[in-house]
Amino acid sequence: MRIRCKPWARPELEACPFYISDPKSCRGHWAEQFPQKQPLRLELGCGKGGFIAQEAPANLAYNYIAIDIKNEMLVLAKRKLEAAYEQAELSMENIRICIDNIMYLSACFAENDRIDRIYINFCNPWPRGKHKKRRLTHPRQLVQYRQILDGEIWFKTDDSELFEESLVYFQEAGFRITAMTRNLHAEPSLCYFETEHEQMFVEMGKSIHFLIAEPDLSVPKSALEELLHDSAQYIERNAEHERTTEKQ
Ligand SMILES: C[S@@+](CC[C@H](N)C(=O)[O-])C[C@H]1O[C@@H](n2cnc3c(N)ncnc32)[C@H](O)[C@@H]1O
Repeated sequence: MRIRCKPWARPELEACPFYISDPKSCRGHWAEQFPQKQPLRLELGCGKGGFIAQEAPANLAYNYIAIDIKNEMLVLAKRKLEAAYEQAELSMENIRICIDNIMYLSACFAENDRIDRIYINFCNPWPRGKHKKRRLTHPRQLVQYRQILDGEIWFKTDDSELFEESLVYFQEAGFRITAMTRNLHAEPSLCYFETEHEQMFVEMGKSIHFLIAEPDLSVPKSALEELLHDSAQYIERNAEHERTTEKQ
């Protein structure tokens, strides 16, 4: 999807009290970013914020961080969140938003930043062979999430190939699937707040695929060493690249 450039997005985010401008500086200290110490949940790739603007104000006993890579998206999420909290007459204490490339999530979250749940809603499918590593459900990603996760990952997509391959990815990265459907809207007991992309795909007549996965504690960390190493190397290469471009 092409996104129109919004030169006002960054300044508007920088002025927002619940925007975290330097997420890397919060590594190991995310709990301190909220007035209440309570379980922390992440939405990865929040887009225009349709999901988080329903989820966060409805669950005040949890803290939320919504992450996207694009200012132009996150600023729309910011506005949607403000409208939702204002309508519910709530203060925005349990929500923070930030810009980050989730592919390097471990650069922003340390093992002591314990996460209760991760939502991945309609991430980009990256269907071409060598691009599949960019999927937010690629094993290289899942092992990063596993390091910080106490609870579950909730994953929704319209893309059947991404879904079927993700079922394998989750197993490879030491997760077990605890709930799963290839037609979410036929199972109302599993349905939860809808996202913008979900509404669009449902209108197009597409089936929504959904799963819940949790770390399989019978899989020892040693079995994931290779993936963890690959993931760490990938993040280090990016950090090196960032250091070099900063110097130029
Ligand atoms: C297809 S949209 C889905 C948006 C929303 N979750 C929904 O369901 O309507 C994918 C979103 O993920 C974000 N995204 C893609 N890759 C990302 C990455 N590596 N790090 C952070 N956000 C990413 C995009 O900017 C976009 O907003």
